[in-house]
Amino acid sequence: MSARGGGGRGGGFGPSALGTREHWDSVYERELQAFQEYGDMGEIWFGQESMARLIRWMQRHGIPLDASVLDIGTGNGVFLTELAKSGFTNITGIDYSASAIQLSEQIIEREGLSGITLKVEDFLNLSTELSGFHICIDKGTFDAISLNPENAAEKRKQYVKALSQVLQLKGYFLITSCNWTKEELLEEFGAGFELLEELPTPQFSFGGRSGNSVAALVFQKA
Ligand SMILES: C[S@@+](CC[C@H](N)C(=O)[O-])C[C@H]1O[C@@H](n2cnc3c(N)ncnc32)[C@H](O)[C@@H]1O
Repeated sequence: MSARGGGGRGGGFGPSALGTREHWDSVYERELQAFQEYGDMGEIWFGQESMARLIRWMQRHGIPLDASVLDIGTGNGVFLTELAKSGFTNITGIDYSASAIQLSEQIIEREGLSGITLKVEDFLNLSTELSGFHICIDKGTFDAISLNPENAAEKRKQYVKALSQVLQLKGYFLITSCNWTKEELLEEFGAGFELLEELPTPQFSFGGRSGNSVAALVFQKA
């Protein structure tokens, strides 16, 4: 979803349809139809490896299998199915697109999994019952929110506030982003969250320069 144009923080990349609910509704309506017709689960943002990377971190850090995990902007919910297949039992996925949640429900059912909580929720306007999570996952959702054509800077602040509300003290926040660098994410989440670890992501090399096009970071709520 890289919409980075010219780099820089605080509006360095322009607003885009990718930041609107209408866009995601139409994406997931289409994907829901494709799933029903052809069994195609649709796009996995950042690919299969991005899910394995997060689960490996959870396993390496001895996160208990009954730890409460919230996937913020779960999309087709495929990450939830990977968590369940890895033995995690206390999993919740939210998305503000009702079609995304419907698609997640159908994929979870097809995979023969149960016990996963799904909810239509706008993360920037949460119902109060969402709180106390041990782990919060974001794969592409903060990126999407950052592209909102209406006051994205304010929406990013609201995101950080909502994250503080749902995550328990010392809880972990695992974010994967293609629109923000490690340094930029540190600025966004620096107040209230401590960087614990940067997870290795694929490197690119172009014109004699090399770097990472995706940042994957683990923060801990201070
Ligand atoms: C780039 S997609 C990533 C989907 C999924 N996390 C994945 O890795 O495949 C961004 C997702 O964030 C959701 N989203 C964007 N803004 C949201 C908000 N304010 N509240 C809840 N979900 C949101 C979109 O509906 C979409 O499913």
